[in-house]
This record gives sequence, structure tokens and C-alpha cells, in this order.
Amino acid sequence: MSGQESATAKAAVRVGAAIRDEFPSLARMQDGRPVVYLDGPGGSQVPRSVIEAVSGYYEHSNANTHGAFATSVESDAVVSGAREAMGDFLHAGPGATLSFGANMTTLNFALAHALARGLKAGDEVVVTELDHDGNVAPWLMLAERGAVIRWAPLAANQTELDMDALLALIGPRTRIVAMGLASNALGTITDPAPVRARTREVGATLVLDAVHYAPHRVVEAERMGPDFLLCSAYKFFGPHVGVLYGAPGALDALATDRVRPQQPRGPSRIETGTLNHAALAGVRAAVDAVAGWAPAGGSRPERLRLAMTGADAYEARLFERLWEGLSGLTGVVLYGRVPGTGPRTPTVGFSVEGIHADDVAAGLARRGIFAWSGDFYAVTVVDRLDLRRQGGLVRLGLAPYNTEDEMDRTVAAVREIIRER
Ligand SMILES: Cc1ncc(COP(=O)(O)O)c(C=O)c1O
Repeated sequence: MSGQESATAKAAVRVGAAIRDEFPSLARMQDGRPVVYLDGPGGSQVPRSVIEAVSGYYEHSNANTHGAFATSVESDAVVSGAREAMGDFLHAGPGATLSFGANMTTLNFALAHALARGLKAGDEVVVTELDHDGNVAPWLMLAERGAVIRWAPLAANQTELDMDALLALIGPRTRIVAMGLASNALGTITDPAPVRARTREVGATLVLDAVHYAPHRVVEAERMGPDFLLCSAYKFFGPHVGVLYGAPGALDALATDRVRPQQPRGPSRIETGTLNHAALAGVRAAVDAVAGWAPAGGSRPERLRLAMTGADAYEARLFERLWEGLSGLTGVVLYGRVPGTGPRTPTVGFSVEGIHADDVAAGLARRGIFAWSGDFYAVTVVDRLDLRRQGGLVRLGLAPYNTEDEMDRTVAAVREIIRER
């Protein structure tokens, strides 16, 4: 595709006002004004097609899988349809496995539990200071089996990982490296390529947390080449379901916890018990909804690429406006990469001098702006920034359904909160 063609395609992607009608919850009012949802990194809003897919499953197809009767056959199709959709969304490539579970954290504990069976005392496991605890705690647990935990530190700018230090930690004893693609607290995006190259050299397993990355960037699972990658559909317009990508053969090589009749090969190898079929119907609908923002034509993976790229460009524009507005307010300290200086998601963590983060979030909530405060389980980031005493960060996270007007309203609200102090 030429540059001009790609620009035209991007322009035709529906975002912002053009998709708001698809999300019924965006009609919610508070004190006569529409609510502003900036809580996306904690869970995005859901299009009507997803809601209908979930309720439609219960209306028409509700059954357990692998039976001879119609609703069971339909349930099988729901599960395989969700796997195909997630394969497309993650650009998983042939032979990869797409498994489902309650959420990312539960799947990651199951993964860690299985990998633990192959560890010996003295084997090393690398985790990072930038990660959400969902990609830290499961690996810390391996210390109980004699694994040595190595922490990859934040760089001196407290914004990104110290990549040289991370690479230096990976050596012949390293068995597992767990890292995130994007920080849910600071928005920092980390390129996994150097880590992938180094883990290959030493034969270590690479586990990528794509939970905060997947709603904003095209996840190229096959190209990125991790052994495992995790994300959560409720962060990209779907229901509460965790997703585990396994590189071809990776899951089959693991000693997972299983009941005896369980399908021993493929994605089911790590799926214990009955899946949430209704939610899986919603996962597929969420992927189709995103693909539907791209102009008609082309395969689903192609449309997903276009839609995600267009949405990302739109979010980046809004984000610059928000950042600029907030950075003009006395007492506001913004953390993370300044827009335009390196890859990041449209998620900002900030603090306001002299005001507890919870009070800022409560002030926003009173004005109909929904945002989180605290550490969002990115525990070490908040410790490193020394923000514990003032309640951590206030976090504003953008989604493609947000608008310019909402950015301006949010900046004005923070200004008022500062004045009220
Ligand atoms: C970066 C990151 N990783 C992991 C998780 C955990 O995801 P889940 O709630 O699906 O367990 C989250 C949730 O906020 C997250 O933002």
C-alpha cells in the first residue's frame, strides 16, 4: 500500500463521534451532562453488538460443548469462533494456540504453575519493575521452587525500563523472562525485540503481557515471537475474559494442571472446566466491532490492522491535547514519556501537588469524569515514583470513543479541583 493509500484508509476508519452510538453506556448522564469515560485502562465500554452476542447466546445457544444436539453444536462454534477471532486480532499465525480463562492474571498463574514443573533450584526468572502485578506475582511464586528472581529496573528517568540492564540480566541460567508491552500506569511501550533475541540465545521462555498494549496497538504476536502472550478482552470492548496466545507447540510442551478427560493438546490444554461461552460470543463480537471501524473490504486481519492503526492515530491526537492542557496547570506533575518522544499509549498518570490522588479522582467523579487513582497493581512503579503517601497516580486513559470536547472538559475539571484546594 502506498503512503497516500494508507493515509486515505486511515482517514476512512471510523473513530470518536462516528462510533459513539455503538456504545449504549456512553449515553449515561450525570447532572445533565454526558459522563466522560477515561477509565479504559481498567476496562473499556462495550458496543451493543457485544451485549447482543452475549445475551443472544443465552437466548438461543446455551449448552455445554461437544454434544450431538443443536445448541451444543452451536456452543462449539462459539468457542472456535472466539479462538479464530482472537487469532486474527493478535495476528497469531498458523499453529498458534488461543486459550481462554477468567482473566489474564488467572491464566498467567496457570501458566507459571505449569512452567514451574520444569524448573530446577537456581534457575533464574526475570520480572520487571514496570509491570502490572499480574505479570509479576505469578513469577515471584516460582521462588518457592528454588528459582532465583531477577528484577529488571526502571531507568533513571522513571519512565521506561533500563533495557541494557534487562538484557544484562538474561544469561545461561535464565529460564523465563516476563515483561509487559505497555505500562498500564505510565503508558510506556517497550519493544520486545531485543529481549526476544536474547532469550532465544539462551533458550529462555518469553512471556509478554499485552493487556494494556492490545487496546491501542496492533499486536503482532507471530512477528514479536514470544512463547506466550496474554491479554484481556474487557480492555478492548469485550467481556471479562482472559486470553493466552501460545506459539506453535509451546503449550503442548507444558505440564499443565488438567482433569483426566480434558483434551490434552491444543488450546484446551490449559483450560480447566467449562469456559464462559456467552462471554466468548462477546469476544468474537468485540473483534468484529473493531474490524467494522475499518472501511469495508479485505480480510478481518487486514481490517483489524487498519482499524487499530486509525484508532491509535486518533487517540494520539486527543492525547496530545489532554497532555498539553494538563501540563499548563500549576501543581500538576505528568509522568511517562512526553508525547512524540517515544512510543506510548494514550494513558497518562499524574499527580497534583498537595492533593491526594483519591481526592482528585473523587473531584473528577463529581464532575461526571470517570478515572482511577492509586497504583492500578503497577505496584513498583508507584513505589519508585515515591507517590505512595499521596495515594499514587491519577490515571486518565483514552479510548477511540473519546472526543476532543471530553479532553477540554477534563482539563477544566482538574483546573477547578486545584482552585478548590
Ligand atoms: C498491564 C496489565 N496487565 C495485567 C492486568 C491484569 O488483567 P486481568 O484483570 O485480566 O487479570 C492488567 C489489568 O488491569 C493490566 O493493565
